[in-house]
Amino acid sequence: MEIIINKNYLEMSKCAAQKIGELVKNKPDCVLGLATGGTPIGTYRELIKLYNQGLDFSNVKTFNLDEYLGIGKDLSKSYEMDQSYARFMHEELFKHTNIKEENVHVPDGLTKNPEEFCQWYEDAIKKSGGIDLQLLGIGGDGHWAFNEPGSSLSSRTRVEKLTEQTLDDNYEAFYKNAGISRDDIPHYAITMGIGTILEAKSLIMLANGQKKAEIVAKALAGNITTDVTASAIQLFNRDSYVILDKEAASRLSKV
Ligand code: GLP
Repeated sequence: MEIIINKNYLEMSKCAAQKIGELVKNKPDCVLGLATGGTPIGTYRELIKLYNQGLDFSNVKTFNLDEYLGIGKDLSKSYEMDQSYARFMHEELFKHTNIKEENVHVPDGLTKNPEEFCQWYEDAIKKSGGIDLQLLGIGGDGHWAFNEPGSSLSSRTRVEKLTEQTLDDNYEAFYKNAGISRDDIPHYAITMGIGTILEAKSLIMLANGQKKAEIVAKALAGNITTDVTASAIQLFNRDSYVILDKEAASRLSKV
């Protein structure tokens, strides 16, 4: 695991985009695992810049980590009123590049049969040859994707109930400004499992801001535990990069 500490969010985002860009250049038909949340938005902006400078995404395949259950991309709504991760990816990255729609995979939050869908998603990742590089953030309670505390470190793609802390975080970050009440936000999600994530060929985990400092320290230097599912990064024995800003790295030496 290589920990790269940048002076600020912009530098962190540039650093991550550069690594993803290198992979796309060297392997134009690579498979990217992508993440949502506020953290990777800067990385996506930098990737869009690389696209505008000539980086070709036409053969890239993508698999997103997760999606809320019960919602899906709805272009008839304003972006603010459509909180699906499919819409987020469309607005923040896909529509600004030449990624082909048929190469994009986001779990289907509107599926009638979540169990069957989750198996299909696992199979689709395998059929694509597996994820070359998985981008990850970290939730306030230390989760990866929506693998909430208590999730098995060998878990697969499945439906997960969101914790109160995650509901609070999501509400603050995305729903409050749209005027959606906390009771009406999705309480369940489809998420890749930790076991699924650990099968990627390489990982990049991003975190920025003081708010993430303590949980980042726990994940990287604390016990490997289902209480902090991102601590599974310590089990990953291929290329992994933890790309942080100074604030998010500030508790690392104190663990
Ligand atoms: C959600 C997502 C995670 C993400 C986390 C952190 O829980 N499912 O994949 O890492 O939010 O979000 P943020 O980057 O906004 O802090």
